[in-house]
Amino acid sequence: MPKDILKASSLTVSFADHTVLDCVDFSVKQGEVFALLGGNGAGKSTALKTFLGTVSPTSGDAYVLDRSVKKDINSIRKNIAYLPESVTLYGHLSGIENIEYFLSLGGINRTEDDIKQALNRVALQVNAWHKPLSSYSKGMRQKTAIALALLREAPVLFLDEPTSGLDPSAIDKFNQLVASLSEQGTTVFMVTHDVYGACQIAHRIGLLHKGGIVGMFERGSNDTIDTEAVHTAFSMRDH
Ligand SMILES: Nc1ncnc2c1ncn2[C@@H]1O[C@H](COP(=O)(O)OP(=O)(O)OP(=O)(O)O)[C@@H](O)[C@H]1O
Ligand SMILES: [Mg+2]
Repeated sequence: MPKDILKASSLTVSFADHTVLDCVDFSVKQGEVFALLGGNGAGKSTALKTFLGTVSPTSGDAYVLDRSVKKDINSIRKNIAYLPESVTLYGHLSGIENIEYFLSLGGINRTEDDIKQALNRVALQVNAWHKPLSSYSKGMRQKTAIALALLREAPVLFLDEPTSGLDPSAIDKFNQLVASLSEQGTTVFMVTHDVYGACQIAHRIGLLHKGGIVGMFERGSNDTIDTEAVHTAFSMRDH
């Protein structure tokens, strides 16, 4: 039985008098791709940020590899990679230079060959690799950020709306990439409002609404999640 790599335990987050997450419990096993699905403002990014330590639990706790975000965030940060909702890279640096720069900030050494391999995996066109980011489209920036997250080679990967800005063929490649990482044992936690995208990629989906997980969906005997059931549950609460 694979062990729990991520765990939210009575996780509550409030901003001023607004409770965004109210006693949320879930766990994610090693190699699992878990998607937290919900409408805009449901608290998905907030949940993800509690695991990164950029939002603190008001009560309860969140754990990564059995370490508490309240007590051990520095050790957690060494074991995770994060793809943010809005990619912030430097416009005057090329894709390769951005990656080199951000890896060096994290004290990570990778060869230029490693970086090129990652850019190939995310299918960023070769003729863009040495061009400044300011000339990239949104999807090209997203691919660069995904390559950067991959190069951290972390056992746990956090993705916030990872396929927004990607075209259908890039989404297919991205889904294959996540599936192969998961097969190699990487645990993936993603948040999204995209029902179809979540069903394609996730082993399990938690539906977040009004501060709580109101539905949990997993792959059935045919190894797929029932998109229609998730869509119905989601739109029922879309108010
Ligand atoms: N730092 C903060 N201070 C105050 N309120 C915040 C803060 N961060 C988030 N919120 C509020 O918490 C709620 C949930 O925000 P969050 O960003 O987690 O939503 P989301 O589910 O990721 O939405 P989206 O799909 O739009 O990305 C919103 O009402 C937001 O205004
Ligand atoms: Mg968000």
